[in-house]
This record gives sequence, structure tokens and C-alpha cells, in this order.
Amino acid sequence: MLQEVSARLRKDLIRGLGKHSHHKAPVKMLPTFVRATPDGTEKGDFLALDLGGTNFRVLHVRLEEAQKVLKMGSQICTIPQAMMVGKGEQLKGQTLPLGFTFSFPCEQLEIDKSILIHWTKGFKCSEVEGKDVVQLLKEAIHRKRDCHIGSVAMVNDTVGTMMSCGYIDQSCEIGMIIGTGTNACYMEEMKNVKRIEGEDGRMCINTEWGGFGDDRSLADILTEIITHLSRSCDHFEKMISGMYLGEIVRLVLVKMTKDKLLFKGQISKALGTPGQFETKFISEIEDGLENAMKILTELGLVWDPVDASVVHLVCDTISSRSAHLCAAALATLVNRIRNNRKLDHLETTVGVDGTVYRKHPTSKLQKAMRLLAPQCNITFFVSEDSSGKGAAITAAVAQRLKKSCS
Ligand code: BG6
Ligand code: GLC
Repeated sequence: MLQEVSARLRKDLIRGLGKHSHHKAPVKMLPTFVRATPDGTEKGDFLALDLGGTNFRVLHVRLEEAQKVLKMGSQICTIPQAMMVGKGEQLKGQTLPLGFTFSFPCEQLEIDKSILIHWTKGFKCSEVEGKDVVQLLKEAIHRKRDCHIGSVAMVNDTVGTMMSCGYIDQSCEIGMIIGTGTNACYMEEMKNVKRIEGEDGRMCINTEWGGFGDDRSLADILTEIITHLSRSCDHFEKMISGMYLGEIVRLVLVKMTKDKLLFKGQISKALGTPGQFETKFISEIEDGLENAMKILTELGLVWDPVDASVVHLVCDTISSRSAHLCAAALATLVNRIRNNRKLDHLETTVGVDGTVYRKHPTSKLQKAMRLLAPQCNITFFVSEDSSGKGAAITAAVAQRLKKSCS
């Protein structure tokens, strides 16, 4: 079944790369205007803003000799309802190039011109969809204080992650996020990117694979609960990412309780309330039955040891599905890169970030990858904050390429 999912995604990747199809295509395959991964020679001071899933980060990064990334200063805050900009206090009197990570689907026209197609992950700020977010950011910085920024490189968080891992390990050509949302980018051959002129070299493509299945192509594997949660969008993301996993488990537990299979048929107020079963409970429960018992008590449930074991099994099932589907999608990308380059065997590194990846054991994902992409040997490179640093590195690579052209 996972091979079948992978094959369907392969078709959607090709569809998304086509000349006109991206707005209707469920997997958008957005060109990023990032044409090269780092070569390790990039240097200088950069500012990075990172609007991700859970947090907003402001970083001052220094790239030094020997591929060292120094974090000179940073500020992290939970994202409030409205979009915001960072303080940039350390920048007075200087104009630094800025890397901006914006983790939403954008139609990128240049490295510094990028139109938000639509919000995902529950964001709904008005008057941003359809607009150039780099321009909005510049205007916002201008309004806030007398602070000037240099050239801007805007990237999706997957791209930032790929670039920061690529700075250390030059065989990194895929970036993957399994966090609040899920997505991946990879280096595609320019000749296959029909929407951009030019046949030579490569370009990083932001797949936006969270939308896979939105044209009902996964209808045969969608469960009632996923269909109920999705209301026709971001089907794939909903089966994989942190924003939804806890709620899926809650809905399964409610259904089983109603069917009198758990808690003697008694639903507590907390279990009956949307959002009360947090995604982080899943990994805690998977860690051991004792945690399961503690969490069930906190949720006001009256349980016996069999209930605790069943809840453990439900969590394991939902998180395994997430890991396996993610593996199917990642296998599609590595197999595509291998075929593109006509290689029998591909050694590659995947840069990864996101709370779900970091908090869960990764053995299931890795095992499934070995089955689904047997001709590829994959190293996973995990780092936190990576995409902010990666955005700064992207600004540096853009500078390097500009210098080498002029
Ligand atoms: C952070 C990155 O480490 O992870 C962000 O800096 C990214 O750019 C985020 O969006 C994804 O994880 P989560 O769990 O916060 O959605
Ligand atoms: C959502 C966004 C995508 C982002 C991902 C991970 O799927 O649409 O742009 O990369 O979340 O944060």
C-alpha cells in the first residue's frame, strides 16, 4: 500500500512540475529560485527571521571559515495571532542581508518576491493571501523603527533546513519538516521545471506535499476521522503532522468509548473537548504505560490497566501511520533524484526539523525507507532552529552566485 501511495505521489510531482498546473495541482511543486546548495565558502553576518509552525525566531548569524555557523544572538517567541516582525536591536547602524523563513505555500517570483497562495496550519491573518510577503515584511520593518535591511532571501522552512544542513554536509539535497505541518523540498533538474525558463542546472522545489490527496487521489485510504477533520484540504498533512495527530487520537478514543470498548463507556469532559488531547501526549504515552496512566488520570478518565494498554496501542497506530506515510513520500523524492541522475545507487542526506520528528523515535520511518527505497542510502541530519540559519545561508549563497556572475 505504501508503495502504491509513493507511486501516486510520483505522478502528482510530475503533474505539479508541468507548465500551467500548479494552482489546481494538489501537490504544488513551487520553484524556490534557490539554484545551488552551499559550497561551504559562504561568509559574513546575516539576520534571519523565521516564521515557522509553533514559534517565531529572530537570529543574528555569523558564517565563518570552516563551515562554522555562530549564533550571535536570538530571540524566540510563541507566535501570537497576528503576524509580527522582530526587533533587530543588534543591527543599529548596519545594513545586513536578511534571510526570511516563511513556512507557507508561496508562488515565488524571485528570491525576494513571493506571493502567499493560501495560509495553512490554522493561520488566518487577513489581507496577506495573494500578496508579496517580502514587501509586507519590508513595509512592517519600516513602520516599526528606523532600521534598514539589506537584500532579502525568502525561503520556505524546508528550504532553510536543507540549506543549513547543506552548509555542513554537501550531499544534503532534501529538506523535510515534520512539525505542526509537514512538507519537503529537493533539488530538481531545471529541464523538468517547466514553469521556469532554462534547461541547465538544478533548482530547489518546495513540494508542499501536505496537499497530496486533496483531489481525492487517496480516497481509498482516508478514514472517516481524517475526512471529518480535513474538510477537503491538506489531507496528507492531517495524517502526518503535529497539529492534528493528538486530535485524531482523541476522536478514535471517543469513538471507542462510545462503542463501550474503553473506560466502561464513560467519556470525561476533557476527552470530549476538541484540542484537549495534545499531540505531545502521544510520544509520552508511547514512552511507557506509566505515562499513559498519568495522562488518562489527568484527563479525568476512570481507567483500568487494559484501557491504558489499548490507549497505548491507539497512539502507536496513529504515530506509525504518520511515520510510514512520511516514508512513502520521502521515498518518492529520493527515488526521483536517483532516476533523474540515472544512478543505480544514491547516497544522500536529508535535513530534517520539526517537533514531531524530534520528539518521536525515528526507527519506523527509517525501516520503511529501507523497504521503499532500497537503492538509496539515506543519512538524516537533524537540527533545531535550522531553517532560520538556512535562510541566512541562502542569502549568502545568493550573494556568492551574484558575485560570480558579475
Ligand atoms: C523550527 C524551524 O526549528 O522548526 C522552523 O526553525 C520550522 O522554520 C519549525 O517551521 C517546524 O517545527 P514546528 O514543530 O515548530 O512546526
Ligand atoms: C505547511 C506549509 C508548508 C510548511 C509546512 C511545515 O504544510 O504549507 O509551507 O513547509 O507546513 O512547516
